[in-house]
Amino acid sequence: MSLKSTALREDLFDYLIENFSGENELLKQLKLDAFESGLPAISISPEQLRFLQLLIKSINAKNVLEIGTLFGYSAIGMAMALPDDGKVITFELEADRAELSRQNIKKADLSSKIEVIEGRAIELLPDMIENLNLDFVFLDADKHNYYKYVKILDKCLRVGGMITADNAFAFGFVTSTAPERSPEDVKSIRLFNQFMNNWDKYLTTISPVGDGLLISLKLQS
Ligand SMILES: C[S@@+](CC[C@H](N)C(=O)[O-])C[C@H]1O[C@@H](n2cnc3c(N)ncnc32)[C@H](O)[C@@H]1O
Repeated sequence: MSLKSTALREDLFDYLIENFSGENELLKQLKLDAFESGLPAISISPEQLRFLQLLIKSINAKNVLEIGTLFGYSAIGMAMALPDDGKVITFELEADRAELSRQNIKKADLSSKIEVIEGRAIELLPDMIENLNLDFVFLDADKHNYYKYVKILDKCLRVGGMITADNAFAFGFVTSTAPERSPEDVKSIRLFNQFMNNWDKYLTTISPVGDGLLISLKLQS
């Protein structure tokens, strides 16, 4: 037994990525292509993807909703963990990223499983929720709206479903009194983590994978 977690040294991190990655060769290539074409390196990490895939399978999720597609890395990776009749709906604000994602999804032969919706998710979602029955949510976009997203999406998430969110450690600044990066985002993330932790409908934790992955299991309606 140990009172403190083992710090994630470089060699342990390498071990994790080498052995417990959720990406296949195609995803590896799509990521290289995206970064070479100038897209920012802000997709989730391969070991985070494995973690999401495990969570999705552990609750037998069929219907996944993601905010923040970028070039489709996490959407494709999550779809890989779904049953044949599973579906990912993913929102992307920028038209060229949405289009690139659709092309990548086609390359992965997952067009029937993943729908990319272009636009500002916070404006589009309220009109959609009546027709949504969700098992799993992954938030990875506009941090200041996370609180609003969960209030909306809770209405269509089943008991036993999960809400997850990337960057729970706020790029490493969640505990910092004077964050050097994106202070508004850091503040929003801090408040969001707190909000989820205090919401008694949900059991919440943060896994120190990637930049911190918040995981909230819905316990009651
Ligand atoms: C961190 S990236 C997503 C990475 C992706 N989930 C992955 O791991 O492969 C965030 C994306 O969210 C998009 N975005 C930002 N605000 C948004 C909004 N309000 N609605 C939809 N997409 C948004 C950005 O354009 C960006 O491509």
